[in-house]
Amino acid sequence: MEYLYDKLKKYKEQEIYPMHMPGHKRNLELMGKMDPYSIDITEIDGFDNLHDAQEILKEQMEEAAKLYGSMHTHYLINGSTSGLLVAIAACTKKGDTVLVARNCHKAVYHGIFLQELVPIYLYPNVDEKYGIQREITPEQVKEQLEKNPEIKMVLLTSPTYEGVVSDIAAIADVVHAYHIPLVVDEAHGAHLGFHSAFPNNSVACGADLVIHSVHKTLPAFTQTALLHSNGELVDYDKVKMYLQIFQTSSPSYVLMAGISNCLRLVREQGMSLFDRYVERLTWFYQQCEKLEALQVYMPWKEQRTNQPYAFDPSKIVIFTQYSELTGVELYDLLLHKYQIQCEMVSKNYVLAMTSIADTEEGFHRLVKALFAIDESLTKKGSRSEINTDSLFYVTNLMLVRTPYEAYNLKRESISLDQSVGRVAGEQIYLYPPGIPLIVPGEQITEEVITTIQEYQAAGLQIKGMQDGKAKTILVVGEEKNG
Ligand SMILES: Cc1ncc(COP(=O)(O)O)c(C=O)c1O
Repeated sequence: MEYLYDKLKKYKEQEIYPMHMPGHKRNLELMGKMDPYSIDITEIDGFDNLHDAQEILKEQMEEAAKLYGSMHTHYLINGSTSGLLVAIAACTKKGDTVLVARNCHKAVYHGIFLQELVPIYLYPNVDEKYGIQREITPEQVKEQLEKNPEIKMVLLTSPTYEGVVSDIAAIADVVHAYHIPLVVDEAHGAHLGFHSAFPNNSVACGADLVIHSVHKTLPAFTQTALLHSNGELVDYDKVKMYLQIFQTSSPSYVLMAGISNCLRLVREQGMSLFDRYVERLTWFYQQCEKLEALQVYMPWKEQRTNQPYAFDPSKIVIFTQYSELTGVELYDLLLHKYQIQCEMVSKNYVLAMTSIADTEEGFHRLVKALFAIDESLTKKGSRSEINTDSLFYVTNLMLVRTPYEAYNLKRESISLDQSVGRVAGEQIYLYPPGIPLIVPGEQITEEVITTIQEYQAAGLQIKGMQDGKAKTILVVGEEKNG
């Protein structure tokens, strides 16, 4: 049997470049060497207690709040997942109605399940040219709030995995006019607001609760995250209570020291680190303008009037639909031929994640690989001929049951092929990004089945289904349990 630690050590020796999270990129020159065993303690004298912080942890969290301009900031050591569960529980009572972007991470649906909420889903605009999901607009939010005065909370994801940033300031104004809180899952945006090349963060834009995965886009350990709490619309005592419920009672001092070190780096050296990073990104995008068949997403270059969303350039999205390669083929080539491990792959694109910890060598390696691959490809057709119809995005599905009902009614396993018209009893998603293709309680359509099958045929891994193969699916039966 191979032991995990030995496997990790062996992997490190291979020198595969990490174009994925965590954002420290295993860059020891920047992070310094840290022996986790020598600093791994529990709540001993002089080291405070995360669940009732009075001393050093309180100071550290106040420093974090200052850095982001937030009223209160909490360290999270169970990832943004715990922050989302806390935010949803703190803003709602059991059975409330909530307005939620349908392109949210699965953790949001788990929060909805736990609070037995009634979700109304907002579907993001779709970029027809590229087949990716774009922003949620203030108008969409307003329309739903006008129609459904019972809504108690609005929750959106911004930036998306692909880097699309919604107009949170305008959405916050709309939501606040209804005296309810806006929660932003900004798991992918802990680096926003530290340099003019990036959009502002949602704390600055007026959201009430904002969740940041420090580990995704800043140099910090996996699992580390922040929850920012602002304004008077959220009961802060409830936030503190749910932080105790959804976080371990033995928070790791190694992880917390990792958050502290990361934010200290941003505070003390952020200007120069972000300047250097932006220079590297600018160079990278300039190079990629010359690619022929592969296409790197640069929405700021598109000739569109009234661009309705901002974009986070830290996300490098490489589209393959103008070439004979699929997303999976490009992803495999980058890994096996050029030793670059990317963060995510979809049918028609590969996503590389970057951060201030990326080296010049890392960017050079990616550019070199992309040009070598591009030269070996023939261009498929003119850009206007590309058909993105078959590319995945979440479509309007009918909500028949709440997720809580769907999980708790009697469920049965049937063949996926035979499931059109039935109500899903389990969640199905690709990981990453972890956005459900179907949420429990939604009616299964032909399109859902085709999408799942196309993804499988494209070599992507479908997760969440009990059978592990997506041949059968759990659907809601007629009878209630018990
Ligand atoms: C948009 C979004 N929100 C939340 C999460 C969960 O974050 P964490 O892994 O820090 O728990 C993820 C994870 O990928 C995500 O992509």
